[in-house]
Amino acid sequence: MTIRAALLEGSGLLGKAGPDTPFLDAALLLAHVLDFSRTRLLAAMPEELPAEKFEKFMALVKRRVSGEAVAYIIREKEFFGHSFYVDYRVLVPRPETELLVEHAIEVLENAGKSGTEAAICHDAFCGSGCVGLSIARKCPGIKMGLSDKSLDALEVCKINAKKLFGQDHHIGISFGNILAAAPGGLALVTANPPYVEASFVDEMEKAGSLEPRLALDGGAAGLDLYPSIAKEAFKKLNHNGSLLLEIGDKQSGFVKAILEEAGFIKLKLVKDMAGIDRLVMGTKP
Ligand SMILES: C[S@@+](CC[C@H](N)C(=O)[O-])C[C@H]1O[C@@H](n2cnc3c(N)ncnc32)[C@H](O)[C@@H]1O
Repeated sequence: MTIRAALLEGSGLLGKAGPDTPFLDAALLLAHVLDFSRTRLLAAMPEELPAEKFEKFMALVKRRVSGEAVAYIIREKEFFGHSFYVDYRVLVPRPETELLVEHAIEVLENAGKSGTEAAICHDAFCGSGCVGLSIARKCPGIKMGLSDKSLDALEVCKINAKKLFGQDHHIGISFGNILAAAPGGLALVTANPPYVEASFVDEMEKAGSLEPRLALDGGAAGLDLYPSIAKEAFKKLNHNGSLLLEIGDKQSGFVKAILEEAGFIKLKLVKDMAGIDRLVMGTKP
């Protein structure tokens, strides 16, 4: 059987089972089995696929059919141009979260701080580290700290810090509730906190979601953590420092009001590719 035929068989099975992107999923799984890049996989379409590789591929397709995320199966997720290690200890980084990284970099560049150690930045609720580590890669001069209250997630974050920056990296990765681990004098705080309504997380779990509940559950309305984040960030940011928060659907009005109440000014909402308010940004006066 050729690689092309295997890919078509796998994507056909996935297409019937329900994932939104059957061909992409099949390509990622087969590339993983062959240890190929996706580009190399596409170039190798006419080549023969050894029978044992086909069996391995089909085993992974079955896991995907039963609802497991591709990223958990292949232990990898591409985010902001980098390959992040992921497993069940962390949320799978979402494409829309790249917006948080893009805007954080823009804020640092506009303030002339993307290359200066004077810019102390903190990414709270770091999970895999996809947000904070991506910012630090783009702005190598800044002093970046990341924190989370899941020790499991912090282990994954440390793996990614080594992957992106090498063994002797200087990224601070700490345990801490909300912003407890962040120092004062910050130029920037980023956070993608859990913001899914608890009842919806129940439904996700019933449907087979394996992502950590701690990474998703934002309480009854999904908004439980925002007031504390806003208050703590206000205390720890410098004059003119920025707070950038990812939010869920229909939460922008509430979160904007929470930031205003905490004292933030120059509030700005940013929409994602689907036209949904996805970020709330504020400045400490
Ligand atoms: C939505 S995930 C975001 C992970 C990552 N930043 C991303 O964008 O993919 C939220 C993270 O917050 C952590 N978390 C939940 N409650 C927390 C709290 N009270 N203090 C600190 N971290 C918390 C979870 O362990 C999880 O890793």
